[in-house]
Amino acid sequence: MDSTASSLDFAVIGHQDSWQNVSNFVNGLRTGEQEKLSIEKIKNIYSFIPARDLFKVKVKSQTGSEINGVYIETFIDPDKLDSQSLRTNISKVMNAISHSKKMGAKMVALGGFTSIVLEGNLDSFYTDDTKFTTGNTLTAAYIVKGLEKAAIKHGINLSECTILIVGATGDIGMACTNYLKNRAKKLLLSARNTMQLEKLSQQLIQDNITIKYSTNLQELVSDADMIICVASSTDIKLSNCKKNVLICDAGYPKNLETKIETDTDFNIFHGGMGQVSCGFNFSPDYSNTIYQYPVPHIIHGCILEAMVLAFENKYENYSAGKGNITMDSIEEIYNLSLKHGISIAPFYNSKGIC
Ligand SMILES: NC(=O)c1ccc[n+]([C@@H]2O[C@H](COP(=O)([O-])OP(=O)(O)OC[C@H]3O[C@@H](n4cnc5c(N)ncnc54)[C@H](OP(=O)(O)O)[C@@H]3O)[C@@H](O)[C@H]2O)c1
Repeated sequence: MDSTASSLDFAVIGHQDSWQNVSNFVNGLRTGEQEKLSIEKIKNIYSFIPARDLFKVKVKSQTGSEINGVYIETFIDPDKLDSQSLRTNISKVMNAISHSKKMGAKMVALGGFTSIVLEGNLDSFYTDDTKFTTGNTLTAAYIVKGLEKAAIKHGINLSECTILIVGATGDIGMACTNYLKNRAKKLLLSARNTMQLEKLSQQLIQDNITIKYSTNLQELVSDADMIICVASSTDIKLSNCKKNVLICDAGYPKNLETKIETDTDFNIFHGGMGQVSCGFNFSPDYSNTIYQYPVPHIIHGCILEAMVLAFENKYENYSAGKGNITMDSIEEIYNLSLKHGISIAPFYNSKGIC
């Protein structure tokens, strides 16, 4: 795609969460005459590819307006979404950020891990022409409001529930904790860093919120009626859960070990996702290779936040840093998304629609 294209409403900086997805999209980019590449061959070259824009995106609002954006791939190795590869990943995200500015994007979403590697610190990137957002506010809104919706569907009264939040000290985890603290009976908070977990917990105890916290997840799991997973780790193991516990896995990549999704004693759905009622299209149309959801027009909440802001001409650094998401901003961005016909995605997991 031409990098000198005129000003764009938004850009999305992203990464793939598995080699299978990488293989699908890399082979999808290859034309008919080119032989398909094996995953092994792709692994040898993938992380050497510099950040580049892959396709344009046109999104429609129910108000009748349309916005134009672009997807920029960072080419981060999906096996290296961890702190050990921080320097390489930061440099890949910085390249993608430079590219988005060069393209003249007015609003840039840092999707999934790309905001985590920068710890949400976006201050040095803003310019008068390009604003950035982690998109975490709308993601948190879709998680908590999705959980409320799922509770109604399952006949569960939230105010009688004990809710476990895995990744409670993270940006999205803290927003979920604050939203649910006066709505649930009890909160169970989990993260690995003791100091941060204690700091958050002491604030809640001072506010008379009933909580229990632990760095040992297994000490908490068996008490939970509902679980939100928003940690920046994969293959988290949940054992000894209550029968029919309701689980929202909002991680990207998914937090939970995959075999949990085949267990019928769990009601698990993928959270933090929205659906665009008036649709969107890609150009070139890579939807067959890059689109992985069981229903049409699903997108991550973090990406949708940038789109909603672009629809609103609200070019500002909406979500940034850690712990800055307010309950007012959750309501504001959620209501703006509804205005444009974007709502919580239907409940689904890796097996399909729930
Ligand atoms: N669905 C969407 O649209 C969407 C949008 C944006 C982000 N996300 C995903 O949401 C997740 C959280 O994002 P974020 O921005 O809030 O990240 P963040 O600020 O870095 O927070 C991550 C949290 O996870 C905790 N954590 C990491 N590994 C853990 C483990 N093994 N057990 C328990 N806690 C653990 C961290 O605390 P410790 O380090 O102390 O353990 C921290 O509390 C990521 O997977 C991200 O990709 C999804």
